[in-house]
Amino acid sequence: MDGNGRWAKRRLMPRKYGHKMGVEALKRVIAACDKLGVKEVSFFALSTENWSRPKDEIDSLLDMIKKFADEEMKEYVGKNYRVRFMGELHRLPLETQRALESIAQAAKDNTGIVVNIGINYGGRDEIARAAEKLVQENLPVTVENINSHLDTAGMHDPDIIVRCAGEKRLSNFMLWQCAYSEFVLIDDYWPDFGEETVMRIIKEYSGRERRFGGLK
Ligand code: IPE
Ligand code: MG
Repeated sequence: MDGNGRWAKRRLMPRKYGHKMGVEALKRVIAACDKLGVKEVSFFALSTENWSRPKDEIDSLLDMIKKFADEEMKEYVGKNYRVRFMGELHRLPLETQRALESIAQAAKDNTGIVVNIGINYGGRDEIARAAEKLVQENLPVTVENINSHLDTAGMHDPDIIVRCAGEKRLSNFMLWQCAYSEFVLIDDYWPDFGEETVMRIIKEYSGRERRFGGLK
């Protein structure tokens, strides 16, 4: 989710307002994914590198995450969505960690769309933590063992990685999992995302030929 700040600046509004509208876009996109039959969707809400932003901005992002957990995510659990998280949650305020853990727990037997949210997430950090777990469990370093010790254990590799707001880099997102993902680059800022954007992304993806290193 990118471009919240620029979206707000363009409207002569504070960055915080951009993040607030970014949450509205998140709700629209999750609803659209569910409606359109997407099975798993992951979002990058807060990275291991975002902590270098001014405290005021971090605080407002953390407030929004807590609010989203208390309101939307609870509703998603009730709608049979499997809400899960990736990242190091223990750097978050204790009450937020508790809220997220109880949501993940409550959603674990659900059977609907997987909504996976990266919070204090970094792809390198995730791979390093998986490797450390293999060492602890004295398991051989194999692709399968790494897969099953990542935060995304049990999920499929993403078919599509979407970068928005004109950015053309991965920014430490799902480094391991994106080996054969199709990239879709969108110029729209995140707060402008909605069902129409999701449809555009799926349409572009459906025209791609995937060979996974093989021949057609
Ligand atoms: C992304 O929007 C939101 C988060 C990192 C949570 P940005 O804050 O990066 O917005 P720009 O890139 O400055 O416009
Ligand atoms: Mg940005």
